[in-house]
Amino acid sequence: MFNNNKKHPEATISLDPNRIPEHIAIIMDGNGRWAKKRHLPRIAGHRQGMETVKTVTKAASKLGVKVLTLYAFSTENWKRPKDEVNFLMGLPVKFFNNFVPELIENNVKVSVMGIVDELPQPTQKAVYDAIAQTSDCTGMILNFALNYGSRLDIRMAVRQIANEVKENAISVSDINDDLISRHLMTGFLNQYADPDLLIRTSGEERISNFLLWQIAYSELVFTKTLWPDFDGETLKEMIRDYQKRDRRFGGLNQEE
Ligand code: FPP
Repeated sequence: MFNNNKKHPEATISLDPNRIPEHIAIIMDGNGRWAKKRHLPRIAGHRQGMETVKTVTKAASKLGVKVLTLYAFSTENWKRPKDEVNFLMGLPVKFFNNFVPELIENNVKVSVMGIVDELPQPTQKAVYDAIAQTSDCTGMILNFALNYGSRLDIRMAVRQIANEVKENAISVSDINDDLISRHLMTGFLNQYADPDLLIRTSGEERISNFLLWQIAYSELVFTKTLWPDFDGETLKEMIRDYQKRDRRFGGLNQEE
């Protein structure tokens, strides 16, 4: 499960083009440690992390990934020092201000999941503008989890379903996995709602309240690489690991 990442031992990694994960979700971790190693303030790590988002978005889109979900800010991240939170809230503004033309060039459509109306006004505007500007793109969906928490996601879905039952719009027996999936914040992704591959960088091996329902059968890959050092080749290494896995979804292989 653990990927040791010897900074690209092979020149280029060859992948099976027929087994590219359709939905990749990433917990981008290690910005602070990247900065600390360089005696820089933590925000320098986040700034470099934003550059990595650009690189990885282009690489994933080129590989034919359908959905790239990035955990950019969790419902727990508000506990960080105010200056750091402010900087993180400014990142989507910086990112979309200069990267939307390239997103359009690459046919990438932006989406956001989380409680957007709790974000500062300029962040909300940047997000909604980017969604509108890329709405005609038909390629990869770049889905930012911003002010997102999976327990919140599940809690909101449960409340919504309970209300629908109360209003007799559905009956209790209508509640099945598919109905729950459609009520979660990833519901709009339809057949791609569940990630095939979940990556966490920086050596931590935790899920940290990310997509708890949706990762039931995801392949998990952890790498020691810090997010600002992650690049297109690292992404390919993660996909190569994924392609070695035998996905059975609780069943057996045909030969077994
Ligand atoms: C975790 O690293 C990272 C974050 C909480 C922020 C992630 C945000 C980015 C990578 C940039 C997002 C870009 C856009 C466009 C929204 P950490 O700070 O916890 O690192 P540490 O564990 O080493 O301290």
